[in-house]
Amino acid sequence: MSKIVRKEKWHDTIYSMWIKTPNIAQAVQPGQFIILLIDERGERIPLTIADCNPRRGLVQIVFQKVGKTTMKLAQMDEGDTFFSFVGPLGIPSKIGKYGTVVTVGGGIGIACAYPITRALKETGNEVIAIIGARTKDLIIMEEEMRKASNRLLITTDDGSYVRKGFVTDVLGEVLKRDGDVKKVWAIGPAMMMKVTCDVTKPYNVETIVSLNAIMVDGTGMCGSCRVTVGGETKFACVDGPEFDGHLVDWREFMNRLSRYDRLEKLSLETYREKQQRE
Ligand SMILES: Cc1cc2nc3c(=O)[nH]c(=O)nc-3n(C[C@H](O)[C@H](O)[C@H](O)COP(=O)(O)OP(=O)(O)OC[C@H]3O[C@@H](n4cnc5c(N)ncnc54)[C@H](O)[C@@H]3O)c2cc1C
Ligand code: FES
Repeated sequence: MSKIVRKEKWHDTIYSMWIKTPNIAQAVQPGQFIILLIDERGERIPLTIADCNPRRGLVQIVFQKVGKTTMKLAQMDEGDTFFSFVGPLGIPSKIGKYGTVVTVGGGIGIACAYPITRALKETGNEVIAIIGARTKDLIIMEEEMRKASNRLLITTDDGSYVRKGFVTDVLGEVLKRDGDVKKVWAIGPAMMMKVTCDVTKPYNVETIVSLNAIMVDGTGMCGSCRVTVGGETKFACVDGPEFDGHLVDWREFMNRLSRYDRLEKLSLETYREKQQRE
């Protein structure tokens, strides 16, 4: 049984949890994720493994409350166990020695960019990390990202911390100035990853994105996470979640992401009403 051993609230909507799950902690590699189920009647949701401690059998998840399941997850406490906690899933990031590379993390995507950034630096790359969020309070893992990279650049949409602007503005400046960037990783909201690809395309820099497609089984059976990459159908859970961003059909991807919006809103409203009655 996977058990929560440490829970921290980093912001009104952002939480970190360390989970005791030795098999996953010993096998996980950067870029991989788990799928958890809070209870028997719950919904399966994927979350990236932000960090791990194989010796103590622990993995860290960092999540943002956006709907019913993440809201229920935020209510769980130290000592609670999951009905199911499966992983590591997905193909690990390809960590090689490339030279100068850039990792870009937007919002909660910073937590997903962290293990990749650290592994790239440990492999001997010169890693420039760019992190950004809507506002100062939503910038997470700043110190971890500073240690994990050779240079950390921070931006906020509203200018409340370091500088005003989007991560893609900063990336554009880095590409112009540093000329020699070999590869870029972008993890965050779909629109941020798409714009990152638009920015890197004229420089012909390979750009890897981690697609947060809607997943159900996580085993390539249900087809829910279908994406089109380079004209071919892929499943984000078993062929990804990382893909060459310049080949992703972004219009289709974003349409598919919003296909359950009405049902998710209804499910959240019903859950809130039920909570108020109890
Ligand atoms: C590989 C992968 C790794 C992820 N890692 C993280 C992470 O580390 N931290 C984090 O906060 N979030 C992560 N996500 C997104 C996270 O899975 C969703 O936020 C979560 O499923 C929302 O569920 P909900 O019921 O709270 O919200 P809902 O109200 O159900 O949905 C809110 C939004 O979340 C997305 N979503 C809903 N259900 C799913 C699902 N089953 N699979 C994927 N997306 C869904 C949709 O875009 C939806 O519009 C990841 C997604 C993927 C695919
Ligand atoms: S989640 Fe079912 S095929 Fe990927």
